[in-house]
Amino acid sequence: MKSKVTVKCPSNIALIKYWGKKDTGIQIPQNPSISWSLSDLTAKTTVKFLPSNCREIKFSYDGVPKESFLPKINEFFKRIEDVLPWVKNGIFEIDTVNNFPHGTGIASSAAGFGALATALLEIENKLDNNTEVFWNKVSEIARLGSGSACRSMFSKPAVWGASEAVKNSSDLYAVELKSPIHTNLQNWKDTVLIVDSGEKKVSSTAGHSLLNGHPYAESRFLQANKNLADLIKVMETGDVERFIKIVESEALQLHAIMMTSIPYYMLMRPNTIAIIESIWKFREETNFPVCFTLDAGANVHLLYSNEIESSVKTFIQTKLLLYCQNAMYLCSETGGKPQIEYYD
Ligand code: PMV
Repeated sequence: MKSKVTVKCPSNIALIKYWGKKDTGIQIPQNPSISWSLSDLTAKTTVKFLPSNCREIKFSYDGVPKESFLPKINEFFKRIEDVLPWVKNGIFEIDTVNNFPHGTGIASSAAGFGALATALLEIENKLDNNTEVFWNKVSEIARLGSGSACRSMFSKPAVWGASEAVKNSSDLYAVELKSPIHTNLQNWKDTVLIVDSGEKKVSSTAGHSLLNGHPYAESRFLQANKNLADLIKVMETGDVERFIKIVESEALQLHAIMMTSIPYYMLMRPNTIAIIESIWKFREETNFPVCFTLDAGANVHLLYSNEIESSVKTFIQTKLLLYCQNAMYLCSETGGKPQIEYYD
């Protein structure tokens, strides 16, 4: 039976970072992580499926064929065959587009694989006459494309990786945090300040692998586990000061691990540090609930409570834009999950 599904899926930003993979299985994290979805930074993916004796994949970005993406997509389809055996037989036409501009240095793989995984599960549901979406399964499929993609499935914070602090947590998929979130830590926003829109010098895949034999690896994994347990408590009690300390420390630990890998490398740029220092100064002067986090790149994610949005916007305009490449920044609310926009 022919199907066509369009899904819009958010990206996400980790508060506790996944950095390092176990050598057992595919994309099995060395430590648990937790993230917020970014509902305004999305990928929209359409999958057309036609059953066939063998597999054929066509891939385009915003209607333009992109052969260069095919090796990664083919590898993804091979990886998911155990979970979705029917994907061995079919013609798949996949088109994807992000709502954030190209060249902003924002990893689009979380949103992209999240959308693709959701679309494939929708097709499976149609083939099986199921109506319920199994988000753990969608998350597991997304993980096989890009580890962090498995956390884009939930409106509440998403935890990926087995942890004693979170019931039902798993290395195979992310789960939604069930414990209550204090109002102090609800409805935060994320503004991504674009310091460098170029390709990263060291890919995340290469970065993860440098954790093997890293002199600080074991203590980093212990720290991440402890920080996750602490952060979950803090989200419940609403201790914003402690939240900020954990989140900023996690970002700096991620980059400290990069700088102490062998070979060592640095993804922060001078303007990354200038922005961080401005955020610290702004917080000291105003006592506002704002902090930063970093991905595996030079750009800075500025996280802040919804209530101080207008003051933060002024701060960005007057103090931070000069450090951004072409004065570029992206704003998003936190939360959000994949939405099925079209189904036939
Ligand atoms: O999903 P990957 O393999 O691109 O790894 C992402 C790792 C970080 O973004 C640095 C941290 C995280 O947990 O998202």
